[in-house]
Amino acid sequence: MKAPGKHLLSKLFRNCAEPRGALGRLMLRMMNRGHRRVYAWTFDHCPLADGMRTLDVGCGGGGAILELARRFPAIRADAVDVSEESVAMCRRRVAAADIANPGEIIRGEAGALPMADATYDLAYAIETVYFWPDLVAGLREMLRVLKPGGAAAVAVECADPVASQEWVDLVGRMEVRTPEQIAEAFREAGFADVAFFRQETGRSALCGLHCIVGRKPAGEAA
Ligand SMILES: C[S@@+](CC[C@H](N)C(=O)[O-])C[C@H]1O[C@@H](n2cnc3c(N)ncnc32)[C@H](O)[C@@H]1O
Repeated sequence: MKAPGKHLLSKLFRNCAEPRGALGRLMLRMMNRGHRRVYAWTFDHCPLADGMRTLDVGCGGGGAILELARRFPAIRADAVDVSEESVAMCRRRVAAADIANPGEIIRGEAGALPMADATYDLAYAIETVYFWPDLVAGLREMLRVLKPGGAAAVAVECADPVASQEWVDLVGRMEVRTPEQIAEAFREAGFADVAFFRQETGRSALCGLHCIVGRKPAGEAA
């Protein structure tokens, strides 16, 4: 039999994949705080400028949008998430922050984005691709909704299937890939100029910060 503390922790962390109910809301608040340095570091590696239109895929509780709006007040930041709880918290946080140019925050799945073709300058996905049923399908969707020449970024902390096992045990349904595997998925989806960045963090189960960035070829509309 599992110790009650461990059981509760596992129940909480199972909400990483798709936050639900009170534990889901708690997890979202924890991520909004715990991922702050991931948001900041990811945006340091993205081609960004004020006035751009961006899409957050798997937005969770909206922490990344608030960081973007702090850096670039005129950005219009749209977001999508499969979880009703995430969408509700993201909407609440964006409304409370009184952002100058708020975007649409809607429910949807990465593999079938409810957004029009060629709409965004940047689409990003932070700490979420582990949970997507099909990574290449999600990246193809990001490519479709980007303007020609636009960029996509995927950021992960778990990037070593062996070292991250302890984290996988806690979170449950989660697929950890190396940055090289994610970069390969970018190429398979049709991205060009795929590059990756890494920063050590000294936490073994979370294997540093990794950001994979690719560009939609300039001649492609959809
Ligand atoms: C670990 S949280 C990260 C949230 C946020 N990006 C952050 O860093 O704070 C993962 C989020 O991805 C969402 N998600 C999982 N699978 C998804 C999918 N297939 N399509 C869209 N969102 C998904 C979950 O509902 C959850 O809100």
